[in-house]
Amino acid sequence: MTRADATLTLPQVTYRPPRLADAVRVHALVDACKPLDVNSRYAYMLLCTHFAATSAIAEQGRDVVGFVSGYLEPSARAVLFIWQVAVSPSTRGRGVGKRLLQEVLNRPACRDVQYLETTITPSNEASWVLFRSVARDRHADYRQSAWFRSEDFGSEDHEEEVLLRIGPL
Ligand SMILES: CC(C)(COP(=O)(O)OP(=O)(O)OC[C@H]1O[C@@H](n2cnc3c(N)ncnc32)[C@H](O)[C@@H]1OP(=O)(O)O)[C@@H](O)C(=O)NCCC(=O)NCCS
Repeated sequence: MTRADATLTLPQVTYRPPRLADAVRVHALVDACKPLDVNSRYAYMLLCTHFAATSAIAEQGRDVVGFVSGYLEPSARAVLFIWQVAVSPSTRGRGVGKRLLQEVLNRPACRDVQYLETTITPSNEASWVLFRSVARDRHADYRQSAWFRSEDFGSEDHEEEVLLRIGPL
């Protein structure tokens, strides 16, 4: 099945900024999306309120099938930092992750954004492909550099997080 066929057969998915009432369902979605670190419900309550303008959810009926959290870097407002992207396992590979990122980048809050940054663990192939695909669509360069090391997490069990910077957009 091609991407176009998959999109056609996907029951309608809608995209919007998150609201406080979404936080518990977002927490449950992220909990189901390994290898993401699930944060507290309180953290998702903040993301769904203070950071709603740079975050988005994807809904299918009453189900939250996707979520992206992002913020403008406090010391560099032209940089959109993407914290987590999560798409429910049964909805993956149908363009929802990419559409969530486009939804945020196209918002008025990101009018002056020139760079998109995120961190990705070396083994997260789906995430690397997703973000490189966004760079390709926007004809933007990207570069990667070391950032958070395993020891920064206080545990050898946590893979390093490599910084990916896309832009100028
Ligand atoms: C990473 C993730 C968000 C991707 O979401 P998705 O909705 O499946 O991605 P999309 O369908 O929009 O695909 C975007 C691109 O990535 C590619 N892709 C998606 N999953 C892939 C996989 N498992 N392997 C290789 N490529 C993949 C798609 O083919 C597409 O490429 P294209 O634009 O060149 O056609 C999803 O796999 C997920 O939730 N994973 C668990 C949580 C996670 O690791 N999040 C990322 C770190 S924050």
